[in-house]
Amino acid sequence: MRLRLRPRALRALWIGALASIMLACFAPSVPAQRQVQRAQRGMVVSRHEAASRVGADILRSGGNAVDAAVAVSMALAVVLPQAGNIGGGGFLLFHRASDDLFTFIDYRETAPAAAHRDLYVDAAGNVDTMAARRGHRSVGVPGTVAGLHLAWTRYGSLPWETLLEPAIRLAERNFRPNDELKRALAAERDKLERYPEGASLMLSRGKARRRFKQPELAQTLRTLASEGPDAFYRGTIAAAIEREMRRGGGLITRDDLASYRAIERTPLRGRYRDLEIVCAPPPSSGGVTLLQILGLLEGFELQAIERPGQTQHVALEATARAFADRNTFLGDPDFVQMPLRGLLSPRYLDTRRRTISLDRSTPSHFLAAGDAWAFDSEPPASRARPRADSTRVPQLQRESPETTHVSIVDVEGNAVALTTTLNSGFGSGVMVQGAGFFLNNEMDDFDAQPGQPNQFGLVGGEINAIEPGKRMLSSMAPTIVLRDGEPWLVLGARGGPRIITAILQIILNVYERRMNLQEAVAAGRLHHQWLPDVVWHEEGALTGEVRAYLERTGHRLRNLPRTKSSAQCIAIEPDGTLFGVADPRTQGAAVGY
Ligand code: GLY
Repeated sequence: MRLRLRPRALRALWIGALASIMLACFAPSVPAQRQVQRAQRGMVVSRHEAASRVGADILRSGGNAVDAAVAVSMALAVVLPQAGNIGGGGFLLFHRASDDLFTFIDYRETAPAAAHRDLYVDAAGNVDTMAARRGHRSVGVPGTVAGLHLAWTRYGSLPWETLLEPAIRLAERNFRPNDELKRALAAERDKLERYPEGASLMLSRGKARRRFKQPELAQTLRTLASEGPDAFYRGTIAAAIEREMRRGGGLITRDDLASYRAIERTPLRGRYRDLEIVCAPPPSSGGVTLLQILGLLEGFELQAIERPGQTQHVALEATARAFADRNTFLGDPDFVQMPLRGLLSPRYLDTRRRTISLDRSTPSHFLAAGDAWAFDSEPPASRARPRADSTRVPQLQRESPETTHVSIVDVEGNAVALTTTLNSGFGSGVMVQGAGFFLNNEMDDFDAQPGQPNQFGLVGGEINAIEPGKRMLSSMAPTIVLRDGEPWLVLGARGGPRIITAILQIILNVYERRMNLQEAVAAGRLHHQWLPDVVWHEEGALTGEVRAYLERTGHRLRNLPRTKSSAQCIAIEPDGTLFGVADPRTQGAAVGY
């Protein structure tokens, strides 16, 4: 029997603090009017006001959403150096209104040719987690420049140089770090001080400089403006990266850079009730996991659920199951076979749903991935079915997850959802000498030793093991939600695996709880990712009754003192008004016109 979720029951879903409480907790220094804006023609929402303004200016001057995305990304590399980047990677989801095209540009980093499965495993068989997270050996081959250029070549309209000009101006300017950057510099000071190039630019006696210019980054951007990506992958910037790698014992060579390719892929599409969800395909786990959770929830018998906390319990159980599948079955589609049809098939989701008890949580060590291959139309005959070791309960590392998201809608109704990352704050901590930009530490998103947790506590299997040229599995999930066949929500977030649960909760808050987008983004969030076997909750996200119910059903609750996810979203309202919302947990801004 297929049952629909009742609004009354779902009103209890993800009961959190009132939007006003969350705003008070998380919105220290950007006035709320910059975090939300309504406009008629174009809208840009990013995690830095200067970058959002750059994007809005591009739209105003006739650029389209892809032009604005390129300009905003480059600007974020200057003003949000902890996450914005040219030394990292990302995903860009694009909707072209004129012919209803949806496409996806994958510019995820790749493992260098010299990398191998046991790159971070020592002679005693232990993983050197720090080598995977800090310094030159943690760097994947960057994809951002290739990806933005590919998007622009196929879908942009203004000249490439024009799109880089604002970032060049920002890098030349005497720049005052905002509170968020100051906090990031303080949090990552230890790492930064190991690699003096970035530390000497941004820190003075261990503290964030009050102001600094970035002349070397300005020069790098000027080179990119005039020479395009060739400079980065074959020319002078490639030479600077290779020198930096040699200096610190890193693996990336000129050949690795020259062979890097951004890839245009078909996005995933799925349904939740009368909504259509267009989202990220592998090598992101974001879309598959989001669609699985929604698919599990959609068919669930929630009619009888009236007890406070029971709906949250069911959603957490669905999430844990989807993450067990994520960590077991997903990887780089160019290297591994995945049962994608099986994972998303209604019959498979029915079998998974039947394992959820309404009043008892399943301990993670009893919960493994399902038999998705059995529901796939093309099961590979000889392939072993991967299973992660679910008996380990790792501790979450305290590194800051620095990814950042941008949502854009232009006057023609084209939309971009773009998520980009260096992985941790300032990535590897290594700034390329003479070139002024940080390199990622994305190699930690591989499973350095299947069964061992990465910095997010994610425990994966062989499928995401390191191989030369392979893309590491991501949780980034730029998403566009359609209602009545028209784009309705453009959204995405930062936060490693919390990206997926943040987007899930925002969609449910808007659709089921009838919140407006601002309330939906501000509402307190919960997070479960199968392993470790805990439910993280933001301050104020649980009422006493909900907490008591979740504890009774066996969930292990952990407070998340500082939130890790942060979303930047746009709702296209029925009259065409664009409602931009930057998450009050960080210092972003919505700028429309
Ligand atoms: N580096 C975070 C992610 O890609 O999920």
